[in-house]
Amino acid sequence: MATETQPYLSTATIPHGMDLLDIPLLNKGTAFSDLERTQYGLHGLLPPHVETLDEQAVRAYEAYQRKGDDLERHIFLRALQDTNEVLFYRLLLDHIAEMTPMVYTPVVALACEQFSHIYRRPRGLFISYPLRDSIPELLRSRANKNVDVIVVTDGERILGIGDQGAGGLGIPIGKLSLYTLIGGIHPARTLPIILDVGTNNLERLKDPEYLGWRHERITGRDYFDFVDQFVRAVKQELPGVCLQWEDFATPHARPILQRYRDQLLTFNDDIQGTSAVALGAILGAVKVTGKRLVEQQIVMFGAGSAGIGVADGLREAMKGEGLSEQEARSRFWAIDKDGLLHSGRTDLNPEQSVYAQPESLISGWPRTLNGRTGLADVIGKIDGTVLIGLSTVGGAFSEAIVREMARKVERPIIFPLSNPTTKSEAKADDLIRWTEGRALVASGSPFAPVSYGGREIPIAQCNNVYIFPAMGLGVVASEASRVTEAMMLAAARALAANSPALKDPSASLLSPLTDIRRVAAEIAVAVGIEAQKNGVAPKLSEDKLRERVRQAQWTPAYPSLSEPREKRV
Ligand code: NAI
Repeated sequence: MATETQPYLSTATIPHGMDLLDIPLLNKGTAFSDLERTQYGLHGLLPPHVETLDEQAVRAYEAYQRKGDDLERHIFLRALQDTNEVLFYRLLLDHIAEMTPMVYTPVVALACEQFSHIYRRPRGLFISYPLRDSIPELLRSRANKNVDVIVVTDGERILGIGDQGAGGLGIPIGKLSLYTLIGGIHPARTLPIILDVGTNNLERLKDPEYLGWRHERITGRDYFDFVDQFVRAVKQELPGVCLQWEDFATPHARPILQRYRDQLLTFNDDIQGTSAVALGAILGAVKVTGKRLVEQQIVMFGAGSAGIGVADGLREAMKGEGLSEQEARSRFWAIDKDGLLHSGRTDLNPEQSVYAQPESLISGWPRTLNGRTGLADVIGKIDGTVLIGLSTVGGAFSEAIVREMARKVERPIIFPLSNPTTKSEAKADDLIRWTEGRALVASGSPFAPVSYGGREIPIAQCNNVYIFPAMGLGVVASEASRVTEAMMLAAARALAANSPALKDPSASLLSPLTDIRRVAAEIAVAVGIEAQKNGVAPKLSEDKLRERVRQAQWTPAYPSLSEPREKRV
């Protein structure tokens, strides 16, 4: 396990003067004590007043508040990260709800677009295609020797803004900040990487300031060979590291995951993390209804990569609760732009075919969607208990459809998960009003709490931050060698078990960000237990595992750098 929590703390090797102030993980700025200032030649380089971390955090927040827009706030925080990491994480922890969106979604999208214009200092690794024959050497140049988690992207499908080329590095940097902030992975043990295989974004290529490799994207065999060279180098240089794939385009994301998932400790957050967080919120909502998952009839509106991914997770969970494969499949009513998925359709891919209902079953059903069975028809015919939107069709959950669903079900579970807000299948306040406050709602985009019947109903936002930092913590603490599907399911179940709505029916389905570190530790324990069950982690008692998780969770605090008094004389 990563017990090395203070990798630099051999006082003999700590540099002096400006060299020390230049190391973000050791720099304390005005918080260096008098003793440390004397020992490391810092007197004169710093103002005379010695501050505490608390005082610094107040001053840093004042400076943050003076920034005029979100990009400026992002730049400020990144600059702080590159100067004093302890203070950076302390500030983030103090203002977690306010600042998480500044270092990660949505503001990080802007930072990726502007990457070449706001670039200041190196962080992470650029592995560009022309250097493909020296990947092991590039990896060896990393700033910190011991690494627990790598987040890697090729910058092709950055959030909702597509190909950003080398600017995509902003995503691994932001995401690893959350691995530390929430999961507690030591910042020195994280490594952001961009595989710079060029860009097809003409705006980037035309930009004289673009910092990436100015070339169209490498594709096909060359692309996959390059990824292969990268993975081989990772296995050689950093065996045991958790390698998280991030924001790869769909045609690359699945083949890469399939190819490497059994070779090393790896997962794809877009595919697996997304499904796990949605699943966690749904399982939490089902618990709130007092019913069992196996009793649910699930209407999945949108049968693309996200919809099928979430359905796959739910199907596995249903099988885990005793249903046969066939019984589990029969609980799903999946709809795409051509209507309900059924066995008579010839346009379904193998992943979608799993959810095709028998054509005979629906032969007499209405077909009001251009001669096909659409959402309104399905909701009219079945007693759907869960309605999930992953369709990108804004407003698709109409008042008539929602009222019809709510007429037949006491607590309908309705999750409009499409992003951004304009594509959300419904607005949260409409769903609450149309169901007289009975609907259990979680969304993909942020919605303000809804006031209804004298209650304030917070709307949970299904965001991957509930899963990936906890997964990182879980695999590090349990020394897992693989990330199995069962571990993802265990994470989702642990997230559901920590749903605030279980204790208070008016509360959100997912915990507030202020409680997320605690929940991450719970999820990490569940992941570690499952890893042992799956035979991919050494056996440990639950108490011991809990202790390991606790030890592995780094908290921002300054270590003392001064030698004991007796040693100095
Ligand atoms: P995709 O393009 O793979 O799938 C979209 C699906 O919606 C397809 O099956 C398509 O046929 C269907 N669809 C389109 N128009 C339709 C219509 N008029 N009626 C019925 N179905 C229709 O897209 P992907 O990657 O699955 O993403 C879908 C949405 O989910 C996006 O808005 C994305 O932002 C969101 N998403 C949200 C996540 C969250 O955690 N909140 C996670 C991942 C994706």
